Amino acid sequence: MAKTRILVTGAGGFIGHHLVKRFVNERFWVRGVDLKYPEFEPTIAHEFEILDLRRWDNCLVATRGIDEVYNLAADMGGIGYITAYLAEVTRNNTQINTHMLEASRLNGVKRFLFSSSACIYPQYKQNTVDVTPLREEDAYPADPESGYGWEKLFTEELCGYYWHDYKFETCMVRFHNVYGPLGTYEGGREKVPAAICRKVALAENNDEIEVWGDGNQTRSFMYIDDCVEGLIRITNSNCREPLNLGTDKLVTINELVDMVATIAGRKITRRHDLSKPQGVRGRNSDNTKLRTVIDWEPQIPLEVGLEKTYKWIEGELKKAGRVPIHLEVSSLS
Ligand SMILES: NC(=O)c1ccc[n+]([C@@H]2O[C@H](COP(=O)([O-])OP(=O)(O)OC[C@H]3O[C@@H](n4cnc5c(N)ncnc54)[C@H](O)[C@@H]3O)[C@@H](O)[C@H]2O)c1
Repeated sequence: MAKTRILVTGAGGFIGHHLVKRFVNERFWVRGVDLKYPEFEPTIAHEFEILDLRRWDNCLVATRGIDEVYNLAADMGGIGYITAYLAEVTRNNTQINTHMLEASRLNGVKRFLFSSSACIYPQYKQNTVDVTPLREEDAYPADPESGYGWEKLFTEELCGYYWHDYKFETCMVRFHNVYGPLGTYEGGREKVPAAICRKVALAENNDEIEVWGDGNQTRSFMYIDDCVEGLIRITNSNCREPLNLGTDKLVTINELVDMVATIAGRKITRRHDLSKPQGVRGRNSDNTKLRTVIDWEPQIPLEVGLEKTYKWIEGELKKAGRVPIHLEVSSLS
């Protein structure tokens, strides 16, 4: 029997690179596509093509001869990034997703995974730190994150229309804050766990690090191995409705800082900058539907995943011979 041929877009990025490794290790044939090669280690994809997927012709090239598409390419970053570039992020991601869907359909792709986000959930449901976990049906009436969140919600709708008009099968996963080794940890696109690990690793004992907001804002965090496992299980379930993929263990950003400081064995003081973007006040995942559909949910405890992430970031900084410098802790999406 011929091997399933898989395309991972965004394969030069954090989740895409981990997913490529998993598929290749499971003996699938994999093509990776991105604007760039993975930053921290070489890809093991059978083919890796540098293509700008905002362009229609490149999407046709990327999807040729492919059975399954995992569409992870996106212009994205933490809350500082996605709130600074509303038009750019929305335009880029709309182009990538509309073209990838249609090119996949025309090229006879059998399965299409769209990576959505918890940023699609209405802001009016996320105004308190002890927020009620978000169920999939809470998405409407819509009031998502400007730009990035609206685009994700639009593409979820578009995936539904592709089923309506063409019976083209899609799966939609709403990721909640994914973290782990081999993810961006500086430069403006990093998410809060990586940014905190970097700051603590660069700090001396008793140093102060800057935290965006009062640090009482809450989130749940999912380790990358759980993300990849959940993604594959969801795709195999053939569920055509959007599903949350995250943990339902809520922590404050202050608690996250303290956990990283403990892992690093340092005493760290937090300095809060209330002028910086913080995103919604609280966000958590309700995993009831996820458990019903795939009989599984993310399991790796935050302490375990954070320790691996911290060690990796500290190792990268050591390799680079970096000295303590003052940088800001960027925030969440
Ligand atoms: N990491 C998270 O916490 C999280 C949360 C919610 C949703 N998501 C979604 O998951 C997906 C993967 O996220 P990630 O964390 O790996 O992000 P990432 O930024 O590490 O990876 C995205 C990749 O897409 C590539 N890309 C951007 N524009 C492109 C273009 N025009 N053509 C080709 N490639 C392009 C980037 O170069 C990057 O390598 C994204 O769709 C993102 O919106 C991630």
